[in-house]
Amino acid sequence: MTKLIFYIQPGGVLHGHLRVPGDKSISHRAIMLGSLAEGITTITGFLEGEDCLATLKAFRAMGVHIDGPKQGQVVVQGVGLRGLSAPKGPLDMGNSGTSMRLMSGILVGQAFDTVLTGDASLTRRPMRRVTDPLTLMGARIETTATGSAPLHIHGGQPLTGIDYPLPVASAQVKSCLLLAGLYAEGVTRIKEPVSTRDHTERMLEGFGYPLRRESERTIAVTGGGRLQGTVIDVPTDISSAAFFLVGASIAPGSDLLLEHVGVNPTRTGVINILRLMGANIEVLNPRLAGGEPVADLRVRYAPLRGICIPEALVPLAIDEFPALFIAAACAEGVTVLTGAEELRVKESDRIQVMADGLNALGIAAGPTSDGIVIQGGTLSGGTLASHGDHRIAMSFAIAALRASGPITIQDCANVNTSFPGFATRARDAGLTLVEQSI
Ligand code: S3P
Repeated sequence: MTKLIFYIQPGGVLHGHLRVPGDKSISHRAIMLGSLAEGITTITGFLEGEDCLATLKAFRAMGVHIDGPKQGQVVVQGVGLRGLSAPKGPLDMGNSGTSMRLMSGILVGQAFDTVLTGDASLTRRPMRRVTDPLTLMGARIETTATGSAPLHIHGGQPLTGIDYPLPVASAQVKSCLLLAGLYAEGVTRIKEPVSTRDHTERMLEGFGYPLRRESERTIAVTGGGRLQGTVIDVPTDISSAAFFLVGASIAPGSDLLLEHVGVNPTRTGVINILRLMGANIEVLNPRLAGGEPVADLRVRYAPLRGICIPEALVPLAIDEFPALFIAAACAEGVTVLTGAEELRVKESDRIQVMADGLNALGIAAGPTSDGIVIQGGTLSGGTLASHGDHRIAMSFAIAALRASGPITIQDCANVNTSFPGFATRARDAGLTLVEQSI
């Protein structure tokens, strides 16, 4: 397999305006609900990254006619909740935890059997967090002995709604159970320990499916309803914008406008954390696009200071910590993160991999069981392993803006899972980045 390497020259200033690709979480859900709806769903701004394409291909393999993506436009001819057909073989979810966990909620409701598989990283990730509650609902799923994929899902099992307090703050688990709840007899009620991204809830309502928000963090759905095809305008992904929010904050002289960014309050932890560190981020022209809040973000260089990151913000910035650790490395003083053990089971162990990388660049960064302690300092150049984790690769690319020497990052091909075109956009904004395939 070809490997992709990033070489980045030190220094640079980020300026101009930039539109990052569509939101990954919303793009997945648009394909899933569009496929299960009655009638046509038209999606614009769809993320043409490998993760969302894995979801799209899975539905095609189950008989859904999907046109595109063509410049972000996708047209899905929904087959209704009961209209999927058995795929010819296993469904390959690639690197995508969201595809696997959300799809398992849909597939337990089908009349046919399915197998969900994925790449080396995905088949290491914990799946009992979805298979345990789905089993309580009546599903039959086999995992490996360690509770990971491949998942063998037996169809034709009657499902019953459950009352389920989520043991981990996870939008993937919540969404999986809401989707299974569409197929269950009675009410499926989920209580979150803290709020997580609510795109599934918003989108179900956008497709005309009633939900009950029984309290701030309790959501209930009754099975047996219908979804009606709709139009979805996907905002750009704040998780992709985050690399540039950090980059412009740490590179003196930077002034960057990020356009049409999704600013759903369950996703804006990165803005709040950077502001607590002293960042200069303005939220301009707030508006709604397809039921989701959107704005333009202007970010200018500002000296950052270390902070203790409030634990309540952790789930609201869960994918942005690799980038935030770069901000912490460039800040004056110490930054402490706690309550973030989930980072250890993402596409890589993001606490250990980032600590190792920061140490290699001369920064004192100490991993803890549920977080990290980072002492701001001066970044040197160096060679870093991304462990095939897209967000690690992009975070260290941005770190070069403040490094004293060139940075080389190995294993960057997976950047295409969430941010196709990252290298070009980063160059346009002011980073001296060269890609090489070996
Ligand atoms: C996602 C939820 C989060 C996030 C992932 C996308 C989603 O995962 O890390 O990238 O689309 O629901 P968890 O639910 O595991 O926290």
